[in-house]
Amino acid sequence: MPQNNLSDQAPDNKFNRILHSHKNLINFQFPAQEDYDFYWPAEHFGLEKSSLFRALSLFEQEKILILHSNHVLNEAYFIEQAGMKFAAKMILQAELTENAQFYCFMSSDEAVHLQILKKYLKLSDSNFLKQSSFLQLLHQIIEELEPQKLLYLVQIILEGWGQNHYLKLSKSCLNQEFKSDLQKILKDEALHTLAGKTLLKPKSFSIEQKTDLIDKLSAYASMIRKGELSSIKIIDFSLGGLSKQTKIKFLEEIDNLKTTQKKLELLMNLAAQTGMEEIVQSVCDRNLFEPCSNHETVNF
Ligand SMILES: [Fe+2]
Ligand SMILES: [Fe+2]
Repeated sequence: MPQNNLSDQAPDNKFNRILHSHKNLINFQFPAQEDYDFYWPAEHFGLEKSSLFRALSLFEQEKILILHSNHVLNEAYFIEQAGMKFAAKMILQAELTENAQFYCFMSSDEAVHLQILKKYLKLSDSNFLKQSSFLQLLHQIIEELEPQKLLYLVQIILEGWGQNHYLKLSKSCLNQEFKSDLQKILKDEALHTLAGKTLLKPKSFSIEQKTDLIDKLSAYASMIRKGELSSIKIIDFSLGGLSKQTKIKFLEEIDNLKTTQKKLELLMNLAAQTGMEEIVQSVCDRNLFEPCSNHETVNF
C-alpha cells in the first residue's frame, strides 16, 4: 500500500479553522443547505431495471440508494485527494514557470473540489481507500511515475474519465445545490484534461516507458471490465448473501455488459491520443477492452 495516504482531522481542530479562513473556502456554505440521504435516483445506477430491487420495500430500496450514494461520494472524495497529490508532484517536476503556475492552480482546484465533496459526504470512510484497488493503484502511479507518463495516465485518461463521470452525476443529481457544484467541478476538470493533452509528447516515450504505459492501461481496463462490482457488493451486503444465480440475473437485468462495454469504449477513446495508438492497440490485443461475462463478475 502506498505510504502517503492522507487521513482526516476532526472538524473542530485548530488547523481546520485556519484552513477555513482561506479566501477559497471562506464563502463556503457548510454543510450543504439541504440534507439528503442519497443524491442519485435508482435510474442513475440502472437499479430500476432489476426485478430484485423493485420487489424490495421502500425502506430497503432507500438503504441501497444511500449505500450507492456513499460509494460515489467516497470514491470522488479520495480521487480529489489524489488529485492534490498529483498536482503537487507536477509542480515540483515542472521545467517552465508557466507549467508550475498551472499545477499550482490545478492543485487549488482539486482542494476546492475536495471541499465541495465534504459538504455532501458527512464522513469519509478511510476503509474505502484501503479496500479500493483502483485508489491504491492511482496512489502508486502518482508516487512512482515520471511526469510524461503521469500526463497520459492521470491528467488525460483519468481526468477525462472524471469529466464524463461528473457530467453524468450532475445530470441525474437530485439536489440542485449539488448539481450546480458538480457542474463547477466539471468545468475545471475539462481545463485540466486540455492542459494534459497540450503538454503530452508522445514521441518522447522510450520502448521501456511504452511497455510500462501498456501495463498501466491494462490495469485500468482490467478493473473496468469487471463491471458493476460495487452494485453487486452493496446489494449482497444489504440483503444478506445472494446466490450466484440471483447475482447473475441482477447483472443481466441492469444491462451490466452494455454499461461496461460503454465504459471500456470511453477508456479506449481517452487513451487513443494522437501518437499513442500503439499503446491502445497492445491493450486491445490482450482483449482487455472487452467486458468480463456476468458469470466471471460474480466470481470476483
Ligand atoms: Fe478534481
Ligand atoms: Fe482535476
